[in-house]
Amino acid sequence: FNSRSLDGVHLTITAGPTREAIDPVRYISNHSSGKMGYALAAAAADAGAIVTLISGPTNLPCPERVTRVDTISAQDMFDATMGTLDNCQLFIGCAAVADYRPSSIAEQKIKKDNDSMHIELVRNPDIVSTVAKHSKRPITVGFAAETQDLLHYARGKLERKNLDLIIANDVSNTAIGFNANDNAVTAIWKDGDCQIPQMGKSQLAAQLISLIAEKFFAAKN
Ligand code: PMT
Repeated sequence: FNSRSLDGVHLTITAGPTREAIDPVRYISNHSSGKMGYALAAAAADAGAIVTLISGPTNLPCPERVTRVDTISAQDMFDATMGTLDNCQLFIGCAAVADYRPSSIAEQKIKKDNDSMHIELVRNPDIVSTVAKHSKRPITVGFAAETQDLLHYARGKLERKNLDLIIANDVSNTAIGFNANDNAVTAIWKDGDCQIPQMGKSQLAAQLISLIAEKFFAAKN
C-alpha cells in the first residue's frame, strides 16, 4: 500500500443525502449522514488527492485539505458536480441522491385541509450516470445501497450506469450503511469483486481508496 497513492489526482466525491422541497418548511430525504463519503474524502486527501467534496446537508466538519461545496437538492448536487468535470480525473458518487422530487414546490406552507393528500414526484437527473457519459469522463465509481439481492442489483447498476467500479452496501443491516459508524461492502468491477468486512468507516475508506487508486492507474495505463 502506497500511502500517497493518489498524489496530485483531481477527485470529486459526492456525499450525504439530498433534500427535495415540498413547501417552504418540508422536504423528502433519506437517512444518509455523510459519514461514508466524508471518510472517503479524508482518506483520498491523505493519499495525496486534490479533493472536492460535493456535500448534501450533513452535520459533519469538512475534512482537512478538502474543498467542500454545500448543496441541498439533487439538482444542486448535479450542477455542482458538473462544474468540477473540466478538471476531474476520478469521481466517486457516495451520496444518497433522491431519485424523485416533487413536481412543484408550494410557495406557501401547505395547510392540512384534507384527510389525504397527493404529491406528484418527477425523476431527478442521475449524477453518476451523467458523469460516466461526459466527454471528459473521469474514472467513475458508484455505490449501490440495497436492501435485497445486493450483488445482483449492484452489478446491474455497474453495467447500466457504465461505471468502472461499484461499491455494494447492504443497507438492510442497521449496523452498517446509513448513519452507522461501521460499514461492510463488496467492491465489484467488470471481471472481479472483493469483499471488505465490517470495520469503522475511516478504516474501510482507506482500504477503498487504495483499491480505487489501483483501478485508477490500471485504467490509465
Ligand atoms: O452517509 P452514510 O450515513 O455514511 O451512509 C453511507 C451510504 C449508505 C449512503 C453509502 O455507503 C451508499 O451506499 N451510498 C449510495 C446511496 C444510494 O443512493 O445508492 P443508490 O443505489 O440509490 O444509487 C446508485 C448510485 O447512483 C450511487 O452512486 C448514487 O450516488 C448514484 N445516484 C443515484 C441517483 C441519482 N439521481 N444520482 C446519482 O448519482
